[in-house]
Amino acid sequence: MSKKKSCKKVYITTPIYYVNDVAHIGHAYTTIIADVLARYNRLIGNDTFFLTGTDEHGQKIAQSAEQRGKTPKEYSDEISGKFKTLWDDFDISYDKFIRTTDEEHKIGVQKAFQKMFDKGDIYKGNYEGNYCVGCETFFTDNQLIDEEGCPDCGRPTTIVKEESYFFRLKNYEEKLLKFYEDNPDFILPKAKAKEIVNFVSNGLNDLSISRTSFDWGVKLPDSMDDDKHVMYVWLDALMNYITALGYGTDDANMHYWPAKTHLVGKDILRFHAIFWPAFLMSLELPLPQHIAAHGWWTRDGEKMSKSKGNVVDPREVTDAYGLDAFRYFMLREVPFGQDGDFSQRALMDRINSDLGNDLGNLLNRISGMSGKYFDFKVTSKDVEKYHKKELDEVHLILENIEKLICDMQIHKYLEELWKVLTIANKAIGDYEPWNMMKNNRQEEAMALVALIVNIMAKVSILLDSIMPSKIKKIALSLGIDINNASYQNLIQNKGLIDDTVITKIDALFPRIEEPLLVTADVQKVEEVVQKPRKEIEKQEQLEEDNLITIDKFFETSLKIGTIVEAEKVPKSKKLLKLQVDLNEGRNRQILAGIKEFYKAEDLVGTQACVVANLKPAKLMGMISEGMLLAAKDENGLNLIRPEKPKKIGTKIS
Ligand code: MSP
Repeated sequence: MSKKKSCKKVYITTPIYYVNDVAHIGHAYTTIIADVLARYNRLIGNDTFFLTGTDEHGQKIAQSAEQRGKTPKEYSDEISGKFKTLWDDFDISYDKFIRTTDEEHKIGVQKAFQKMFDKGDIYKGNYEGNYCVGCETFFTDNQLIDEEGCPDCGRPTTIVKEESYFFRLKNYEEKLLKFYEDNPDFILPKAKAKEIVNFVSNGLNDLSISRTSFDWGVKLPDSMDDDKHVMYVWLDALMNYITALGYGTDDANMHYWPAKTHLVGKDILRFHAIFWPAFLMSLELPLPQHIAAHGWWTRDGEKMSKSKGNVVDPREVTDAYGLDAFRYFMLREVPFGQDGDFSQRALMDRINSDLGNDLGNLLNRISGMSGKYFDFKVTSKDVEKYHKKELDEVHLILENIEKLICDMQIHKYLEELWKVLTIANKAIGDYEPWNMMKNNRQEEAMALVALIVNIMAKVSILLDSIMPSKIKKIALSLGIDINNASYQNLIQNKGLIDDTVITKIDALFPRIEEPLLVTADVQKVEEVVQKPRKEIEKQEQLEEDNLITIDKFFETSLKIGTIVEAEKVPKSKKLLKLQVDLNEGRNRQILAGIKEFYKAEDLVGTQACVVANLKPAKLMGMISEGMLLAAKDENGLNLIRPEKPKKIGTKIS
């Protein structure tokens, strides 16, 4: 196995996501880290293959589909599609999106099963033990909590008694322990390796790898002539890492194997660090270089769960705060491997301070100075003459930075880049270019501006994998390209940029004063899973007849409000910005599309009917916290108002 730190072929994977749920920030976190690794490797010139996808078989998925009255395939198509769209919208640079329902995958898994069987690593027996459907995992009696509970998720396990095929995991105990010893950075962070070594040292049982009580899974190879069984979902799922490269079918991309990094969450480390290497040893394939396990995200200090209604939707966050800011926050806030807490305050602080002040403002300052003093034209010709000290400091930091990414210390990597930005910000204060200009020291002032532009260019190259879209804007403003050639020139060879012309751009990270996500605090619990079948059917019938129940109607909170302020929204043809009193101790800001029909001043003091529990939305960068009822026909639009004035806040029913 290759032990080189930076190899030419690089294969990066995310876990494949179960389709029993839609994505939350935990999923986004794994995917974003993998995306950063993939982008970084491409930038430094490695031939990179980045895989993500969905895990679609198993009892859990079959049950979720049934609860929704769908076939497992219909249901998987729907949720898998949502994952894919999310990653596309998030500009995740994957090379392949695999689904375990893909034909090629199934063929590959069957071939692998056959190979392990032929080798004598699989035998048929009887399984009797405890199974957690939620975690799709078998447990021994002494692993259970209070004789029944799953040690991972706490839910009750069920006793499964069935004929089963087994993988001779026990035979691999010694080999695994030797492998961990010889490859101390197989598991990252290294601290986590101990846990795995202890687990294996305590003895492994052979692993049940087939099920007969349901059929939503990959069938055994035809040659086994045993139709009753489907493969255990984790065997099926782990194989995706090689079937995606063509294992068992066309082998087209198998030259990317072994993987450089399998990104996983800490909850699934054991499957990747024990089962997966054992399967690979059985298949006589080389083992991956790293299994990198990140921690879990909590919400304001609490575990995220649907029942608590505190699950953070990554789309909501990025719609409100921007994708790049979210990426930066997730990677900078928490050391890799540790649990992290998602709070809007922490996110806002990162945006305002790190991104707004240190990065955005620096760009602003250099474009301001270059414009004012040099008509935006910048030359690097005297940078070395006047600023060798600063350049050396910068290069010293940058020299050691690649190692941090390789060791998955992305938060440190960012910390180091911010030290470089501090050198730039400090240089402006120390050298006071405005005084240089006053004292006719243009050459020195130009050298200083060019120093800052060069630092900014170097940092941008190394930040490109973290915030690709904002860095594109910075590159445009600095007049530089970000690619492997500029990486080689500015980072590896410590070179300087060619003469350039700076372009002024809008603030990259405008200051955020108030939390923008009002809804995540009260996000609704998705209850469908818990609803009994009959209720779902009743609901579906009503929907078909286009009727709603009275309860459904009362889900909408309608109230009388008084408009206390009204003004036009500049640059908008339709919108008026209203402040509406609903007797809540503060006014609501509502953006209403009624500008063509009402003058702002005519509305002040009048009453309206307000939808008061509408999810707040952002329109033209402003929050709107409700909606006014109105009717529109060919004669125009009228607001719906009470016939006679009513007490402010009166409920409408
Ligand atoms: N299907 C398996 C993986 C098979 S890989 C061969 C699976 N899927 S999952 O959808 O349940 O989880 C996918 C990833 O999301 C895991 O790495 C898991 O750690 C991560 N997260 C789920 N919730 C999380 C948080 N709250 N925080 C961070 N990551 C978490 O497991």
